[in-house]
Amino acid sequence: MPARRVCAFVFSSFTMATYGYNGMIIAQISDLHLRTDGHKLKGIVDSVGALDAVVRHLNALEPRPDVVLATGDLANKAHVQDYETLEAMLRTLSMAFYVIPGNHDDRAMMRDVFAKDGYFPPDGKFLHYTVEDWPVRMIALDTKADRRDGGEMCPERLAWLDARLGEQPDRPTVVFMHHPPFKTGIGFMDKQHFDGAEDFEALIRRHPQVERIVAGHLHRTISKRFGGTVASVCSSSAFQMALDLRPDVGSSFVKEPPTIPILLWRDDTGLVAHHSQLGDFGPRHPFVRDPL
Ligand SMILES: [Fe+2]
Ligand SMILES: [Fe+2]
Repeated sequence: MPARRVCAFVFSSFTMATYGYNGMIIAQISDLHLRTDGHKLKGIVDSVGALDAVVRHLNALEPRPDVVLATGDLANKAHVQDYETLEAMLRTLSMAFYVIPGNHDDRAMMRDVFAKDGYFPPDGKFLHYTVEDWPVRMIALDTKADRRDGGEMCPERLAWLDARLGEQPDRPTVVFMHHPPFKTGIGFMDKQHFDGAEDFEALIRRHPQVERIVAGHLHRTISKRFGGTVASVCSSSAFQMALDLRPDVGSSFVKEPPTIPILLWRDDTGLVAHHSQLGDFGPRHPFVRDPL
């Protein structure tokens, strides 16, 4: 399969040119659960306002990320107007962005609304693709399963990924996907099984150029050693699952603000994960000795 090229070259040297190093910055957003029918999510959460705050936060970062990865559950009930609003809002980002589906999403609607970006495959069921235009190669996976909320990497998707990773074994690579392929200890979410997780982990282990796997779905910041690399979960733009590690506790959520992963790649650092916290915490203060 030929490398899929997108119109990102105008962005690709932003960080490098501005700050004089060979590298890039990747930001991740996830689980936007956009609802544009005028109703709040679960009667409580303004998902449109939450996404607007995230977009403004990303555009104000300095240095500005080169790329934003939106890792699924983009719409809550997958109405086409949700995706149209989403596309218009993401278009106000001052950097490139790439989207993948989550369990709440509709592939056909996403394919239509984001068609002009040109990175989705022209045919086939799955919305997986590679992004080749940056110092770090990024591989998008489609882990959506049929008629259930848990994740899946079936033989067809595993074979596709194995072939893509085999193409460029020496290139630093980030894999992005919606469902984390591991249990987290948040009991009610762990009940959603990820089919193919063991085969996926074995595959990743065979391709050590994978610097990191980034996922969503869990609505919290979580990380784990996985397949010889690091796998992480991103918080939601809209709402977070309550942190409760008792195995049999039912589901609940909280309105903690989102925390945005900021992945820095530089020749002299490798891939380093930072996090940017949404919220107003006042001005910066000079880091001085305590006066008293
Ligand atoms: Fe979600
Ligand atoms: Fe999800």
